[in-house]
Amino acid sequence: MNLTKHDFNLNRSDRESIKNQKACTVWMSGLSASGKSTIANILEIKLHAMGKHTYIMDGDNTRLGLNSNLGFSDEDRDENLRRVAEVCKLMNDAGLIVICSFISPFERNRSKAKEILGDRFLEFYVDANLSTCEDRDPKGLYKKARSGEIKGFTGVSSPFEIPDSAVRLINNNYDDLDKNVNIIIDELKKNNHL
Ligand code: ADX
Repeated sequence: MNLTKHDFNLNRSDRESIKNQKACTVWMSGLSASGKSTIANILEIKLHAMGKHTYIMDGDNTRLGLNSNLGFSDEDRDENLRRVAEVCKLMNDAGLIVICSFISPFERNRSKAKEILGDRFLEFYVDANLSTCEDRDPKGLYKKARSGEIKGFTGVSSPFEIPDSAVRLINNNYDDLDKNVNIIIDELKKNNHL
């Protein structure tokens, strides 16, 4: 390939130590409208208030920019999530705590991300009932999926493989949000990231 990895003088631990944190990627999977982005938002506000350096990677936002050439076929989802994991790896190398909110429906998507990110990958599954997500339907997408206007919609006409290795965050009620954010913060502390 005629490529050689170049090592620069400063490394991840130099960048982490100035930020007083150990970088990682909090990876949340789950159905559309399960509450991933809401949890990400509250988590980031809390970490920021603790003086931590963070960044949120979110499905809709990433697909409007970096991944705007990808759709929702199985192959495009694989590529979407592979690219995202590579970006998370760079951000972790920059010393940041990255919070990811992607449906990541297939086991192979999550294991690929884990392979890319190694022990910096912390996996969570935002578990809300399909009926709850469908009742919320903030973007009206479930309605479109049921009517057939959107094909291959996760949970309706495309599968979601429930993760077995993730920390499970049950998120059916508004009251669950703070509890779930605290579960993530406890995991971050347990793994010495804060
Ligand atoms: S993933 O499957 O590749 O991980 P990602 O998290 O990036 O998906 O994007 C999901 C968001 O795209 C959903 O929250 C929803 O707003 C939108 N979306 C549009 N079409 C679909 C679809 N067919 N399946 C799932 N989400 C879709």
